[in-house]
Amino acid sequence: MEEKKWKIVLSNVCRDYDDGGEEAVNVLNRLNLHIREGEFLAIVGPSGCGKSTLLDLLAGLSVPTSGEILVDGQSTRETSVRCGMVQQGYALFPWLTVRENVEFPLSLRDVPVEERRRVSDRELRKVFMEGYADHYPSELSGGMRQRVAIARALASDPSFLLMDEPFAALDPETRETLQDELLHIANTADKTIVFVTHDVFEAAALADRVAVMTANPGTFREIVDVPVPRPRKIATLRTLPEIRETTRYIARLIHRDQPDATPGENISDAAVI
Ligand SMILES: Nc1ncnc2c1ncn2[C@@H]1O[C@H](COP(=O)(O)OP(=O)(O)OP(=O)(O)O)[C@@H](O)[C@H]1O
Ligand SMILES: [Mg+2]
Repeated sequence: MEEKKWKIVLSNVCRDYDDGGEEAVNVLNRLNLHIREGEFLAIVGPSGCGKSTLLDLLAGLSVPTSGEILVDGQSTRETSVRCGMVQQGYALFPWLTVRENVEFPLSLRDVPVEERRRVSDRELRKVFMEGYADHYPSELSGGMRQRVAIARALASDPSFLLMDEPFAALDPETRETLQDELLHIANTADKTIVFVTHDVFEAAALADRVAVMTANPGTFREIVDVPVPRPRKIATLRTLPEIRETTRYIARLIHRDQPDATPGENISDAAVI
């Protein structure tokens, strides 16, 4: 019962990959974390530390080798998880229009046509793409495609959102626009969001807490609180002392892993790992 107030609970989560060698590779080791309902959690850490592996586990696409993940108090081993996933590579179906892409998860669930249309109208409006419903992905810019991917993830009213470096391939201006839109969605839709990024500023700017991971095996080094209330605006966050300080602190935590790292004071505010 105690777990009820938590959206997601990780207890001693381990994930091994058996690559056919003598021993299985321990990718994630004893992860423990409680994520609140409506919380925005960012995950940062060096390449290969197991961030995407962790998202797969949260989505229920794979199960922990040992340990337990509870979503709304239910083990991901026993129930299917209803989450929305947004990845870096604009994973839209090229042969479907924008509207058909957004409606796709609903069509899988046999949602009636009128209801699908109502939902796709609503979600496309949220990401300012209502004028492009009949376009194909190839006719859209990278930022527009990523907006559609977010609309599609929200269309099935998921229990929570998982985002794996969703803005990594975008130019800085588009990226900032989408960051602001996501902040707005996080506030208004009150969704629990787990967001993986290599950009330390992005993590601090968007999230309520930032989980900093280390590699080999992947563990949480520290869960850092971001001491800035919502609502937030990206443009004003850049110069906010609390965000600058948090960004620097997280960058130092990450660079501690790297033997040739420059001392903390030289790490830029927008450090990208
Ligand atoms: N299907 C798999 N089989 C075997 N090993 C895997 C598999 N998927 C991932 N791995 C290994 O698990 C480790 C973590 O991979 P993962 O993709 O989760 O890292 P990541 O933190 O998301 O990295 P990046 O920041 O580069 O995206 C890597 O060493 C990778 O080689
Ligand atoms: Mg990854």
